[in-house]
Amino acid sequence: MFRSVARSAAGKHLLRRGYATESVPDRKVAVLGAAGGIGQPLALLMKLNPLVSRLALYDIANTPGVAADVSHVNTRSEVAGYVGEDQLKQALEGCDVVIIPAGVPRKPGMTRDDLFNINAGIVKGLCAAIAKYCPNALVNMISNPVNSTVPIAAEVFKKAGTYDEKKLFGVTTLDVVRAKTFYAGKAKANVADVNVPVVGGHAGITILPLFSQATPKANLPEEDIKALTKRTQDGGTEVVEAKAGKGSATLSMAYAGAIFADACLKGLNGVPDVVECSFVQSTVTELPFFASKVRLGKNGVEEVMGLGPLSDYEQAVTSVAIGVFILAASSIGFAVVNRI
Ligand code: NAI
Repeated sequence: MFRSVARSAAGKHLLRRGYATESVPDRKVAVLGAAGGIGQPLALLMKLNPLVSRLALYDIANTPGVAADVSHVNTRSEVAGYVGEDQLKQALEGCDVVIIPAGVPRKPGMTRDDLFNINAGIVKGLCAAIAKYCPNALVNMISNPVNSTVPIAAEVFKKAGTYDEKKLFGVTTLDVVRAKTFYAGKAKANVADVNVPVVGGHAGITILPLFSQATPKANLPEEDIKALTKRTQDGGTEVVEAKAGKGSATLSMAYAGAIFADACLKGLNGVPDVVECSFVQSTVTELPFFASKVRLGKNGVEEVMGLGPLSDYEQAVTSVAIGVFILAASSIGFAVVNRI
């Protein structure tokens, strides 16, 4: 169903150019975990997105208040809050994109793997419901550890007979956002012009920013590249420590999640050349899931792009990361199988 969207004067500066008169399809987006630290600002950012016509905010508590609050923002989408498992069906039915920031965040001293036991169970339950109520939706997995929650989701969908590798995404956009910000600072470039692909996974040394492919080119010395790589890999920990027990990245993650969901919606709507990095099923390396640049289209993943030329340093860190993945995969693999 298509609908014409008019830009209100009040919300004009928040919306992007180009939607004044043209038709955009109706799109329903659900945020699962919408009352959380990421969920609330993400709900607001999705409310500001003119590509969304219906916004479903689901959590196990507190969504009526969040939904009432966000619903007063004078933008296109209709907002509804859903609370508790009884209302999950209604939240999911008809969804084009489901964003999952449900789960517990890291505390100081915890790794993303420490989250595995709690978040794996949450993700499993939510994905079983997605398989039942909106099996064709694109799933944007934010819940950590993404390196494991994405394979878990895949297994749940396979068991339900609904798995489509083109529709399952681990959201690694925050790594890209951080790499761009840190690179722009070092290269003294306008951050709005900066592009940096980030490949690999979404935990510590599996996060591989490819600064040799960064644009605009800056020819930074190797010590700077190493420092930027480490800061990008430790970006999450930097925030966890600064928040001193009060959670992990929420605002920057909401921003990153909104960028990725927007890219998915643009792809669904047929906008050409929408490319973002994401942790997806992949044949780029020997690993079954790997983050790399992905072209998004009307069915989700249109093309999983290769890594491109790597510097010697990037080649070395990629090999180390792949080794770490293979080691982790043997233990996580058992855990995943036991969970499904
Ligand atoms: P939070 O604790 O503030 O919010 C989580 C929300 O999930 C809560 O509102 C909670 O009620 C809800 N929830 C718990 N079980 C649920 C269920 N079964 N169904 C629906 N909702 C449920 O945590 P925060 O800071 O929002 O983080 C959420 C997740 O995102 C964590 O797993 C965190 O590690 C991850 N994260 C991922 C990042 C990434 O780059 N992919 C970056 C930062 C955090």
